[in-house]
Amino acid sequence: MAGLHLEQFRCGDNLAYLLYGKKEAVAIDGVAWEEILGFLDKHGLSLTYVTNTHGHFDHTAGNEPLLRHSRALYLDHNKFPDGGAIAIEGESIRVYRTPGHTADSVCFHAGGVQTIRGELITGNAPLNGGILLTGDTLFNGTVGNCFSGDQRAFFRSIKRLMSLPGDTLIFAGHDYVRDSVAMAEQLEPDNPDIERFRQAYDPGHVYSTLAEELKINPYLRFNAPAIIALLKKHGLPCGATEEERWLSLMSLE
Ligand SMILES: [Fe+2]
Repeated sequence: MAGLHLEQFRCGDNLAYLLYGKKEAVAIDGVAWEEILGFLDKHGLSLTYVTNTHGHFDHTAGNEPLLRHSRALYLDHNKFPDGGAIAIEGESIRVYRTPGHTADSVCFHAGGVQTIRGELITGNAPLNGGILLTGDTLFNGTVGNCFSGDQRAFFRSIKRLMSLPGDTLIFAGHDYVRDSVAMAEQLEPDNPDIERFRQAYDPGHVYSTLAEELKINPYLRFNAPAIIALLKKHGLPCGATEEERWLSLMSLE
């Protein structure tokens, strides 16, 4: 198996992705479809599959033109079983059902990724956690809105993502980094890792590691003393369980 490569494309604040091998490629939330077609052409790749992290139009708008200009097969994200996989040249891209932002949200987890935007990820060292395409479930620095209304399901989805190895690279469906960092700083003004995160931000290449998220993303920090103190200050429940603190955090304005 030759390994996969990841390319990130921007369309406003939306982030679109192409995972590809030597010949085959899958577009995930391919809203930047013209750029994606140009990239496929330039690199002699053929688009095999088109799929999405969820059904919101700002993620699916590229499906129709990509399918019209290629022989790709459309894979309906609603039909992926939890733990199912897409195979590209023998490499698996695992699908996790992660309801919360929407009931139909999924994340894609690929272990065999060697390069991102043409650069080797970690030299020759394998990346333990691989890369995770999180759509609007987990952003770099925040989490998505809970449009499904099911905060408890959202919590279980987030907990599942948090259990992945710390070096897992998080590639989200939008670049909300500036606003997220400002919010994180407002909630935890004494957290020095937030400023480090801000300085590492590169709008041309937007990602983070899960370990970084655990240090700075307030919505993953329901066990951090500073966050618990903040919830107390707001008179919100923060005692018994992680889930209770998550619900309190998500209710903060
Ligand atoms: Fe969305």
